[in-house]
Amino acid sequence: MNFENLLVNQHNNIATITINRPTKLNALNKNTIEELHQAFKTLESNKSVRVIIVTGSGEKAFVAGADIKEFADFSIEEGTELARKGHETLFDFVQNLSTPVIAAVNGFALGGGLELAMAAHFRVASLNAKMGLPEVSLGVIPGYGGTQRLPQLVGKGKAMEMIMTASMISAEEAKTYGLVNYVVAQEELLPLCEKLALKIVKNSSVAIGAAIKAINANYTNCVNGYGVEIEQFGVSFGTDDFKEGTTAFLEKRKPNFE
Ligand code: COA
Repeated sequence: MNFENLLVNQHNNIATITINRPTKLNALNKNTIEELHQAFKTLESNKSVRVIIVTGSGEKAFVAGADIKEFADFSIEEGTELARKGHETLFDFVQNLSTPVIAAVNGFALGGGLELAMAAHFRVASLNAKMGLPEVSLGVIPGYGGTQRLPQLVGKGKAMEMIMTASMISAEEAKTYGLVNYVVAQEELLPLCEKLALKIVKNSSVAIGAAIKAINANYTNCVNGYGVEIEQFGVSFGTDDFKEGTTAFLEKRKPNFE
């Protein structure tokens, strides 16, 4: 896959997408959002890809937000469309992938950058990472899911504070609030994500996709998460992975999920 603003590579069953606009702190312009959509879509349809890691290039930033230059003169209609399209092509799209996505937050994750990390299924940060939703300092609000996903992850009070103050929190604070699962030195960030990915790869990707669907259902309006869990639990019984997983357990061997 060749992209202007992304690097994509695959090692064993793990693909890594690196957002590569370091001189702009990997800010998400329109082209980068479209390329991310294409990259995630292609990797999701590739059966050999079992985990996707998304990170930023350089040591300074994961993503410093949506590209402010691109929307500075937008009208109400253009602003609405920017958010709507962003949700559809990237943020909701990533959240609803059946391939697990880990965000390796290697520096500033601000605005759309933190929103992208929050759309991923979980996050790991380097010690130098700084996270925040500074949109109200620009006279706008988070528009790529930040007002919804931040309270889900850190609780309403802390999300209110972070959004109202527009200030950044450190990686350690983010861990305390449950926004990231681990904090490590920068050189250990990708190795840790790969180690976690290797643990995931050993399990049934079909069952993992079903679990993602059931977990996400809890955060989707007008959907009964318990109902989705019951349905997905039942569906699992018809899969080859279920037969292999249970047979392997009974035969006292490791499962071999195709
Ligand atoms: N959109 C567009 N360009 C951005 C950007 C963004 N969100 N964030 C950083 N950049 C660009 C800067 O304009 C600068 O480009 P230039 O060299 O052509 O002038 C380059 O990236 C480096 O950024 P700079 O501000 O010089 O780095 P810094 O170390 O002084 O500050 C930040 C780092 C992250 C604190 C600062 O860049 C910043 O506040 N960025 C905006 C964050 C934000 O509000 N995001 C939410 C957007 S909705």
